[in-house]
Amino acid sequence: MCPPEHFGVLYEINPWMHREVTVDLDRAREQWGDLVATLVEAGAEVELLEPQPGLPDLVFTANAGTVNRGRYVPSRFRHPYRQPEVAFDVAWFDGHGYDVVELPEGVGHEGAGDALPFGHAFLSGYKSRSDAAAHGPLSTLLGAPVRPIELVDDRLYHLDLTFCPLDDRRAMVAPHAWDRYGCKVVEALVPEPLVLSDDEMLAFCANSVVVGSTVVMASCPPPVGRQLEAWGFDVAVVGVDEFQKAGGGCRCLTLALDVATPAGAGPRPSTETAAAR
Ligand code: ARG
Repeated sequence: MCPPEHFGVLYEINPWMHREVTVDLDRAREQWGDLVATLVEAGAEVELLEPQPGLPDLVFTANAGTVNRGRYVPSRFRHPYRQPEVAFDVAWFDGHGYDVVELPEGVGHEGAGDALPFGHAFLSGYKSRSDAAAHGPLSTLLGAPVRPIELVDDRLYHLDLTFCPLDDRRAMVAPHAWDRYGCKVVEALVPEPLVLSDDEMLAFCANSVVVGSTVVMASCPPPVGRQLEAWGFDVAVVGVDEFQKAGGGCRCLTLALDVATPAGAGPRPSTETAAAR
């Protein structure tokens, strides 16, 4: 996580951002502090990235890159505003012993904002930020299959606003934000989905952080809370509305470092390769 010392809405790169809206920095600091405290209480260990002047979105560490089994693939940001973040992200991962492996030039991908592990695979959202062309190379670098999902609603421009893995059978899902193929992919992969309504997804419900059996979320509408509790999860609500002014919620403010899809699952051979054998 990265403290919000230099957070603000200084440009507009998603439909939530409006430069005329001011961020209350004291409130942002307080909300961010509450989020850290809640995650730690739930059992997480939190590592910090140093904030940098002029990089207001560095606080959204979900977009630093994609991590799997000690490997780190830095993001390639669509918007020039966020591209200078990468050098600081890479320096952190280099300094902490990760194997840093890069996507080819010219393919956009915005890290764990768009790529989330479920079971043996990653689901990866594309269109407004990440490119479909990133999925092949990402799969090779992560050593895991990557299943593409087209994001069709501009307000839900990253996958982590529409999908939240809960455990190996369950996830919060917002199929209205996906193309038909993406819906089928999730249907085949997730045996027990908690389907979010439009209001629930726009309240950033899917942008939750799961630590063990605790789900840390920006708000919890009663139907969502009931289902989570019936499944044995505890819900902790942390208001992060200062960050929602920039289009980010709880999960965007974090990057899971302990991701490890089962080794050996590897990228599945493409149909052509399989046919050739
Ligand atoms: N203002 C940031 C952007 O538009 C918000 C990023 C939110 N991150 C996320 N993982 N959804 O890039």
